[in-house]
Amino acid sequence: MKTITVNASRSYPIYVGTELLANIGDYIPQVKSSYTIAIVSDSNVWPIYGNTVCASLKDRGYDFVHYVLPAGEESKNSEQYIRILNFLAENSITRGDLLIALGGGVVGDITGFAAATYLRGVPYIQVPTSLLAMVDSSVGGKTAIDLPAGKNLVGAFNQPAMVLCDISALNSLPEDIFTDGCAEVIKYGILYDAQLFSHLQTFGLQFDREYVITRCIELKRDVVMEDEFDTGARQMLNLGHTVGHSIEKCSNYSLSHGKAVAIGIAVIAKASASNGFCVSTIYDDIIGVLNRFTLPCSTSLSADLLAENALSDKKRFGGTINLVLPRKIGKCALHPIPVGELKSFFEAGL
Ligand code: GLY
Repeated sequence: MKTITVNASRSYPIYVGTELLANIGDYIPQVKSSYTIAIVSDSNVWPIYGNTVCASLKDRGYDFVHYVLPAGEESKNSEQYIRILNFLAENSITRGDLLIALGGGVVGDITGFAAATYLRGVPYIQVPTSLLAMVDSSVGGKTAIDLPAGKNLVGAFNQPAMVLCDISALNSLPEDIFTDGCAEVIKYGILYDAQLFSHLQTFGLQFDREYVITRCIELKRDVVMEDEFDTGARQMLNLGHTVGHSIEKCSNYSLSHGKAVAIGIAVIAKASASNGFCVSTIYDDIIGVLNRFTLPCSTSLSADLLAENALSDKKRFGGTINLVLPRKIGKCALHPIPVGELKSFFEAGL
């Protein structure tokens, strides 16, 4: 098992290994010794891991209650958020108790936000079960819900007390959802690590899970420790996300986050090459890896529509929007674009 420590406004360990779900009760005492545990999960994950998690908590003598969301991005909304708060209140959860987010990015984000706001803050543990949640959303304390106007528009920075990343949970993940998370993994290679990128080029979907997941988490840990509150270096993690969020929104969230981000990375890499920020072979390498992972690389949406929807993105600062542009594999740069130039920039990437 690997342990990665995040030293941010709260310090916490991230454990990466196997058998963590089955032994979850053994890890809880590191956070606090006795209390009621409120588990939030979803309708895909709970039937698979609910019994395993409950058995381990029971063995350790914990009292627990659980709330199950309908699976899917549509659940990351204000209605479900209020339902979770009511569930916590109805079960008399106090600040001395603990929340567990058991699931993918949606469960982690909404539970973390409920934990940030219920009673002005209750500790929580992230137990990610999807690749995307393991390498990205469970680490770094970004929590949120969506609004009709866009994704993650209401939220809080709220670091978890611990992250338990059981990579054997990936074995139960549908191939499509696993592939989806690979877009975020490829993102880390393009951003920071040419060696990681080359491993992904060589092995495709058969990559070494422990090495790749641990490496992505270490890279994210470093960014979070440098810029916990997303005012500088952390914005780099948005590579492909401005276009990606726009595509997700235009598809009414029928296109998954990972696939939208993959297209976003492809569009921004092409725009970067067309505008002279990188050589065209970088774009070719990026497309090669996205193809190897069977991820999509293009969209039929117009630059107009992409730009219009990107304007409600929270990465907009007044009259400019910060785009993350690949310069070479393992190195990207933040580039502020005036809002009025966004459409022509995107056009160059289509
Ligand atoms: N998912 C991007 C971040 O945590 O900053």
